[in-house]
Amino acid sequence: MSFRVFAAEALADFYTTAAIAPSSPHLASAMLAPLHLTRARVVLELGAGTGAITQSLLNALPPSSTLIVFEINRRFWRHLKRSFRDPRLVLINANVANMDAELKRRGYERVDAVVSSLGLGFMSEDQRQTIFQRLMPFVHEETILTQYQYIHGLQFANGRLRRLSLRPTLNRYFRSVQSKIVWRNLPPACVFTCKMAVAPQH
Ligand SMILES: C[S@@+](CC[C@H](N)C(=O)[O-])C[C@H]1O[C@@H](n2cnc3c(N)ncnc32)[C@H](O)[C@@H]1O
Repeated sequence: MSFRVFAAEALADFYTTAAIAPSSPHLASAMLAPLHLTRARVVLELGAGTGAITQSLLNALPPSSTLIVFEINRRFWRHLKRSFRDPRLVLINANVANMDAELKRRGYERVDAVVSSLGLGFMSEDQRQTIFQRLMPFVHEETILTQYQYIHGLQFANGRLRRLSLRPTLNRYFRSVQSKIVWRNLPPACVFTCKMAVAPQH
């Protein structure tokens, strides 16, 4: 069912969905492995799709934690609402570019971990910078962010396909950026682990 919902949305809007299939369990666990989830209080997931990583996060998080999920696609958001009935979950149907207002309005000031599956390669440089500028005020010294990118690293720019590495963008905001390839995913993906935020606010 998740796979069918995902494929339909990928066909309808590939630029935003930015994938042909949900993440594999191998990619989900690689995205979670670097995070200190057992002691996390507030975790942010950016771009949940049909919830492949959301489920792993809920399995790993303690009962007192909160998982805030942003998903721009209304069909995915409805699917997530139907699939997960967990009191720790806050599902927000909004663009991450508005995350600062959405988080503040709900009283959140800082997040302990960020898991992002956003197709940053399909966004313009301005959109990427806006997302990080909105995120960074909520990040503290120990916040860790994971982000994946398919290993082909393709980007659409001015109607043309190019290769894009996310590392320079991530390095603007985090002093430590490490990467690891997960082959058991369609397509294989590179997981970036970002630590030591530049100028954390807390
Ligand atoms: C590559 S899919 C990943 C889905 C899921 N996390 C997984 O790994 O299977 C990216 C997701 O990000 C969502 N998304 C893209 N741009 C977004 C934005 N600006 N704000 C919120 N969600 C966004 C898409 O709708 C899509 O569900």
